[in-house]
Amino acid sequence: MGGEARAPQIRDPRSAGAVKRIMVAGGAGFLGSHLCELLLARGHEVVCVDDLSTGDERNLEMFRDDPLFEFVQADVAAAPSLPVDAIAHLASPASPVDYERIPIHTLRANSLGTWRLLDIARERSAALLFVSTSEVYGDPLVHPQPETYWGNVDPIGPRSCYDESKRFGEALLMAYRREHGVRANIVRLFNTYGPRMRPSDGRVIPAMISAALDGTSLPLHGDGLQTRSFCHARDTVAGIAHVLTDPDADGEVLNIGNPAEITMLQLAHAILAAVGGPGEIEHVDKRPGDPERRRPVIERMGVRYGWAPSVALTEGLEDTVRWFAALRKAGLGAPIAVTAGTSASATPS
Ligand SMILES: NC(=O)c1ccc[n+]([C@@H]2O[C@H](COP(=O)([O-])OP(=O)(O)OC[C@H]3O[C@@H](n4cnc5c(N)ncnc54)[C@H](O)[C@@H]3O)[C@@H](O)[C@H]2O)c1
Repeated sequence: MGGEARAPQIRDPRSAGAVKRIMVAGGAGFLGSHLCELLLARGHEVVCVDDLSTGDERNLEMFRDDPLFEFVQADVAAAPSLPVDAIAHLASPASPVDYERIPIHTLRANSLGTWRLLDIARERSAALLFVSTSEVYGDPLVHPQPETYWGNVDPIGPRSCYDESKRFGEALLMAYRREHGVRANIVRLFNTYGPRMRPSDGRVIPAMISAALDGTSLPLHGDGLQTRSFCHARDTVAGIAHVLTDPDADGEVLNIGNPAEITMLQLAHAILAAVGGPGEIEHVDKRPGDPERRRPVIERMGVRYGWAPSVALTEGLEDTVRWFAALRKAGLGAPIAVTAGTSASATPS
């Protein structure tokens, strides 16, 4: 019988009400703080665990006094075992500038940090959502990248501390799920941008916006024909929240990103347009290990949750430029120091 495929059922976990208290590891960072904000707005209790190594307490200011919010300053590898229904693990440096400066910290956050959170999830019967990355696909030989692609990763290059520790974290999650029955899910984020990124974090959008606001030339690595796809933080965090608060999600691996692919040269022009005014582009050396192409296949998120990105790049860049400009006006644009030794995690143990 050639039976018809059943129409996929879109789950809406917001009506389920099963998840009430959520630990957000890495909640003081760019994406973590957006996630805390969204979860609090939906009435969840949030415990943010962060060592502030690449994050910033100012990101928590707007909900610091919310009685549903708690902040614990700690290394994720030594996170306290609190009674929670769900855990989101975002505690890892995410920008190449950060993780190339503190590679051991990065390896530890995604390995021993993930290990610790899995033990807490097991003890507390909580679900764990590991926030992984498109970097697990490395310099992909398959384009665009579906979740079934196993990747093309350099295990010893300068990015390996990030790529391989995320891959280890994913493997550990699946082992805990198989051996201990921990409810565990993975989201693989593709490039995300938006307000609360650090101007100095080295990622392409902050670097180009900062240069455009300074009136200096925009740095373009290599010939600028390498492509990326950029998802606005609002869309990314909405996708994360779907999976995190879904009481039925178990063993999911889901790409979250925006499939609209552009070259870095096109991005530079879009940023100049968003900032307004003339600007120049300066070609600088290509970063070693920089992938040529990146674009997510996002059908799984669409089928499971009816999720798709909704913020267009022009709108998202304008929003981000406004935030960077406001930061400067307030005199808060100073770089945040990222140093080895900000936490015990810098020391191999
Ligand atoms: N932003 C992106 O485009 C992107 C893309 C793919 C994946 N991700 C993933 O999303 C997560 C958040 O990224 P982000 O862009 O918000 O980065 P971020 O650096 O702004 O945030 C990371 C947060 O984790 C904290 N942290 C780091 N190591 C820690 C440790 N050992 N213990 C406790 N806290 C620790 C930092 O202080 C910071 O607040 C990361 O896991 C990253 O791998 C982000």
